Amino acid sequence: MGAVAPVPSPPHPVFVKAFLALAVGAAAVAAAAGCRDDAPVAPTAPAQAQSREQAPTRRSGPPVLGAAVSWDLMRSSRPYRRLFLAHYRALTPENVMKMDSMAPAPDRLHFTEADGLVRWARRHDVAVHGHALVWGKQLPAWMSGRDWEPGELRSWLESYVKAVVGHFRGRVDDWDVVNEPLAANGSLRRNLWLREIGPGYVADALRWAREANPRARLYVNEFNIEGRSRKTRGMLALLKGLRGDGVPLDGLGLQTHLTTSFNPGRAELRATMRRYAALGLAVDVSEMDVAAAPGRRDALEQARIYRRVAAACRDLPACGRFTTWGFTDASTWLGTAQRPLPFSAAGEPKPAWRAIRSALRR
Ligand code: G3I
Repeated sequence: MGAVAPVPSPPHPVFVKAFLALAVGAAAVAAAAGCRDDAPVAPTAPAQAQSREQAPTRRSGPPVLGAAVSWDLMRSSRPYRRLFLAHYRALTPENVMKMDSMAPAPDRLHFTEADGLVRWARRHDVAVHGHALVWGKQLPAWMSGRDWEPGELRSWLESYVKAVVGHFRGRVDDWDVVNEPLAANGSLRRNLWLREIGPGYVADALRWAREANPRARLYVNEFNIEGRSRKTRGMLALLKGLRGDGVPLDGLGLQTHLTTSFNPGRAELRATMRRYAALGLAVDVSEMDVAAAPGRRDALEQARIYRRVAAACRDLPACGRFTTWGFTDASTWLGTAQRPLPFSAAGEPKPAWRAIRSALRR
């Protein structure tokens, strides 16, 4: 379903009903069209090919190796596309599935780019991890500075989550439902959703996603929770609360944005991952990169850090996915000068790549 005819904003309850109808329609279309992912998926695809009930918090086989991708570059750059396909069978869309891309107006969904990426991925047997349904950043421009009626934003968000998850049902069944809900001190970050809806928005979003796709694997995704910290304690408390309340939740994404001078030690990382896994959750590496200074010494230290995290993922049955946030230094949110990824800007494998491959293959 591409862009639908816009109707006047501001968002009015009647549009929310229409939007919700879209959501129901999308789910019904997906279900009726047999969009379940019966096509072969990548041989090492995560449990998304299985029904959620069987979704293991223990993976079978090695962790799935993935990377975030720029859809613009995937379409326009043959070297970028070939480098990805030579080494990866799973991807996370870097930007095209975010709210600012898919909700350009209060009552309009825009799936063109995201559908194009998903079509391309299925054609190449590449699994897609949806990112990110609810986040305090990259919000649509129309949301900024708006005065919301009580309950209005929550109704809009319910319609949005159900419409998006329903639209991709059977093609994208793993979702970062709530991205970066915490502040550095471990409390809920005062983003738009907390301010306008309250702390229940996290559970709301997860429940709505489950309603739209009973077989989806639903994640919370966060950075700087890989070692001992107030934020890690806050995340453990959040997850325990969600699990205790019976909120649908299948996994946690450890973004793992590190540097050669800021990174958790081996024992601290493994102990932290085990604490999350003890909650009965998948514990995936979802966005790893390691900013490094020029020169061989930092390149080797970077490789050591990648190896440490990849080995910790390999050795934890609950870690089903090892994803880097990009794969070539030519395209990284940090800027090429930070050289954070496994392949150089010229597409050459770095010591980091060899470290990841050897750690995951063992
Ligand atoms: O789409 C607009 C384009 O129309 C405009 O011409 C251009 C210049 O202003 O900006 C484009 O939007 C940019 C967008 O990426 C798409 O390229 C935004 O300015 C830019 O801020 C945005 O950056 C993204 C960032 O999230 C936003 O916070 C990065 O590409 C993306 O890698 C990064 O990814 C996040 C994860 O989603 C969550 N975890 C942290 C990670 C790094 O911040």
